[in-house]
Amino acid sequence: MRIPIIAGNWKMNKTRDEALRFIYEVNRAMPDVSEVETAIFAQSVHLRCLVKRQGDNLKIGSQNVHYEESGAFTGEVSPIALKELGVTYALIGHSERRSYYNETDESVNKKIHKALRHTLRPIVCVGEVLSERESGKTFEVVERQTRLALEGLTSEQMDEVVIAYEPVWAIGTGKTATPKMANETCSDIRNIVEKLFSKEVADKVRIQYGGSVNTGNIKELMSMEHIDGALVGGASLDELSFIELVNVAKEA
Ligand code: PGA
Repeated sequence: MRIPIIAGNWKMNKTRDEALRFIYEVNRAMPDVSEVETAIFAQSVHLRCLVKRQGDNLKIGSQNVHYEESGAFTGEVSPIALKELGVTYALIGHSERRSYYNETDESVNKKIHKALRHTLRPIVCVGEVLSERESGKTFEVVERQTRLALEGLTSEQMDEVVIAYEPVWAIGTGKTATPKMANETCSDIRNIVEKLFSKEVADKVRIQYGGSVNTGNIKELMSMEHIDGALVGGASLDELSFIELVNVAKEA
């Protein structure tokens, strides 16, 4: 049995006050962590005050982490500094970082290794763009991204890794992959993990779906065998919507 994990990716949204109000409201509505795990990925500037108020379940994550511990990397965020703040998760390889900030399969891999070294739990994003989906290259793309992202990890380290399958064409567009389509690719990713590690690792790893997840489609997505949660952008900004997503995941 894999415990579902619902994570909100706030991207570059929310003032400090809005963020604090959300955490205050949502914390007390969260179920036990043995039922659904929850996390919020906030802008770096808010991490400190959010971590101070995180609950037993709702944990805080950074939207990025650098693969070096320190040095001349203006504007980047060090894994040591994140750990020092008490941050639990690091989002790695989100498609917006891949497309706007030159995140590559190689840097994604280095970041995962460094995050794990500092006991930050990586949520690693993979997914195809529309032209790749339309030309039948989805498997090829997620196979490459998954294989290169996880290169050099041990089976024990995989216990800490969550994979998010996010078809890029479904992010922020209102177009969701059909639950069947999402499940097929999540199943492919699980098979890739099995080839790279073992059946045991593949059975355990949590694979989220992301891309226009909302309160109207979460139920069907969560009913799919290989979908173990969601990485949610837009619909995670509203307190009631986030609580509902978590409650649906709990019942799934
Ligand atoms: P969305 O974003 O839910 O707004 O499509 C998902 C994501 O970028 O992780």
